[in-house]
Amino acid sequence: MDDEKRKKLTLESRMVYYPPEPGSMSVSDPIYMASNFQYTQDIYQRILDGARKEVNIYSRCGNPSEYKFEEQMVYIENGDSCLATASGMAAIAITLFGLLKSGDHIVSDWTTYSTTHEFLDHRFTDFGVETTFVDSSDSKMVESAFRPNTKVLYFETIANPTMKISDIEAIVKMAHDRGVIVICDNTFASPYVFRPLDWDVDICLESATKFIGGHNDALGGTITLKNGLLPADTLEKIRWSTLTKLGGSLSPFNAWLLLRGIQTLHVRVEKQCKNAMILANYLEKHPKVQRVWYPGLPSHPQHEIAKKLLPKFGAMLTFEVGDEQAAVRVLDALELSTFGASLGGVRTTTQVPATMAFLDVPPDQKKLMNIRDGMIRISAGLEDPDDLIADFEQALKLL
Ligand SMILES: Cc1ncc(COP(=O)(O)O)c(C=O)c1O
Repeated sequence: MDDEKRKKLTLESRMVYYPPEPGSMSVSDPIYMASNFQYTQDIYQRILDGARKEVNIYSRCGNPSEYKFEEQMVYIENGDSCLATASGMAAIAITLFGLLKSGDHIVSDWTTYSTTHEFLDHRFTDFGVETTFVDSSDSKMVESAFRPNTKVLYFETIANPTMKISDIEAIVKMAHDRGVIVICDNTFASPYVFRPLDWDVDICLESATKFIGGHNDALGGTITLKNGLLPADTLEKIRWSTLTKLGGSLSPFNAWLLLRGIQTLHVRVEKQCKNAMILANYLEKHPKVQRVWYPGLPSHPQHEIAKKLLPKFGAMLTFEVGDEQAAVRVLDALELSTFGASLGGVRTTTQVPATMAFLDVPPDQKKLMNIRDGMIRISAGLEDPDDLIADFEQALKLL
């Protein structure tokens, strides 16, 4: 199938289809489990001529399994180029180190993934890059934070743990009017629920570890770019200037697992979103539950924006049961759902954001982020929803 035809397929078909490997005609792509490749006499000239991806050198600089995964990500994110990395955090750090230099300024939402927040708040300041933290769902606050040296606006599509959603159209326009690059971490939504590049975001980041892989078995990250404010060769430049220096390359085996994960992403996430909606409705009516945060509920503060932006409301939700002790008691009692750190997999997973994801964030910042001690975050999986409800019902009885 030619490129134009492939681009015109529906998202679901683009997720499933990729061409066979030309030599073997293998329908499942082979895993190039190699760190090293044999040189040929003309290799230097071919590299100088720009045939980087056609000439394999050493897997820290690129590997055919990684390229195949990157190509597929371009098709499903509606991007122009993609760079895969060893993890979501590698994607975030490599993007920021690749684009920014000392003296630059970032405007970032204050409820990003805690490790991202710490990176911006502490580590990046050591390199002379300052960040102003704002509530990105408050467009006026975003506008007032821009400075003449602002280079990047950074936020997440659905922000942990209140599933906050920003008015992406408005804040992207504000940034672009000032020549500011927009970077969106789309991990909580997944490319099935939302594709930031369709909304003029410049760079979309994913922790592919989560919904894309989907089986709690592989770490990975992606940086996908749409040409426009940033030139077409930006990611190849970042590959050579930054990724090869920091060494955050994706392993060929994980690239293969993630490529396979994409093929069922739509089926998994469709059902996960349905389960999340069922759980949200159940929990909202439960007498022991103080509050539920799910963008699909009319009670969610950004429900109207969610309806405008998202065809589905995602598979992530949070509810509150008093204090941290109560939350842990409930999670410990769950038998079908797994109490654990990660999300986006086929199994329903739960955690207490205040003492897990946001453990290192000081109390005053947690307050700003609206993180409460008794919050429980759920990543809805693929189980039968009646079984999930029965599991939560028996656990909530302990309160
Ligand atoms: C929103 C978000 N972004 C990025 C990351 C980092 O991804 P990884 O764990 O693959 O490095 C996470 C991890 O939980 C996350 O939740």
